[in-house]
Amino acid sequence: MAKIVSIASGKGGVGKSFFAANIAMSMVSKGYRVLLVDGDLGGANLHNFVGLRASGRGLYNFLRDKTSLADVILESSVGVHFIGGSGDVLGMAHINNFEKLKILNQLKRTDYEYVILDLGAGTSYNMVDFFNFSDKRVLVMTSEPTSIENSYGFLKVALYRKIERLLIKDKRMEDICKKLRSRSMNYPKVADIIEEADGIDSKATDDIRKILKNYNVGLVLNMLKFKKELNIFFGFEKVTEKYLSIAIEKLGFVPYDIKVSDYVKNLNPYYSAVGKEQKLYFDEIRDILVSSMRG
Ligand SMILES: Nc1ncnc2c1ncn2[C@@H]1O[C@H](COP(=O)(O)OP(=O)(O)OP(=O)(O)O)[C@@H](O)[C@H]1O
Ligand SMILES: [Mg+2]
Repeated sequence: MAKIVSIASGKGGVGKSFFAANIAMSMVSKGYRVLLVDGDLGGANLHNFVGLRASGRGLYNFLRDKTSLADVILESSVGVHFIGGSGDVLGMAHINNFEKLKILNQLKRTDYEYVILDLGAGTSYNMVDFFNFSDKRVLVMTSEPTSIENSYGFLKVALYRKIERLLIKDKRMEDICKKLRSRSMNYPKVADIIEEADGIDSKATDDIRKILKNYNVGLVLNMLKFKKELNIFFGFEKVTEKYLSIAIEKLGFVPYDIKVSDYVKNLNPYYSAVGKEQKLYFDEIRDILVSSMRG
């Protein structure tokens, strides 16, 4: 079974696709069998980051034409196996639960060791569910306050949905679930949810704690310009521990490089083109990522 690693951010334009493509290339260079998938159902552009001009038939055709997953896999010039997003933006933005699960289950059942799933921005149920179904969850963030806030917001929405999906199986938890589904999500802290659920059934508390323990979130800082921005790691770690009761893993950082957009415009895959020093940023993250998934 392949391990699914999803790449999310909340805020758009922080470098999810850039990171997903480069970490995939770094893994391939080390000999791992990797499939890179564009899960950005609205604005697929991941193909450009691995040197492909077009996204191919992609996930949309896999669903609508009932073809096999193997039929929609492309191979880029740098050896990355790739599945594109969607040629039909409206169609893909409205996939249902059954289709979502079909995509995820088939990805898991491939022969690859790792599936890198690049997600779109925002907190739509599609993105949140892909994130929650993954074996490893990577948040890409820049040092901008809005990026930090949106990453936290995304994480909270995703985690609360995961807890809601657990509690909904028990009719007595209906009130809590209703509150979790509301826009304001009502509970400032996960500990508040646990306290209320505990009053109804203490077994639910154990199940929520299990979710928290296994949530597996790693953080990557992108477009770093100054070393002191690394302090963001510690601030974010403290807040997620205090309010969401989860431990965040610091995976590493990628510096800002003014040449990135030229590489992308010229369909020149960044990782393959740059020198050892720049590759190392991705290689270090790759090694931490892989070892954390081996347990
Ligand atoms: N480390 C970096 N240094 C310089 N530029 C970068 C870096 N990372 C990403 N960029 C630039 O930022 C732009 C946005 O990156 P990217 O498309 O990967 O973001 P995204 O989070 O996937 O966006 P979206 O939410 O729209 O999918 C890209 O055009 C890329 O050129
Ligand atoms: Mg993107």
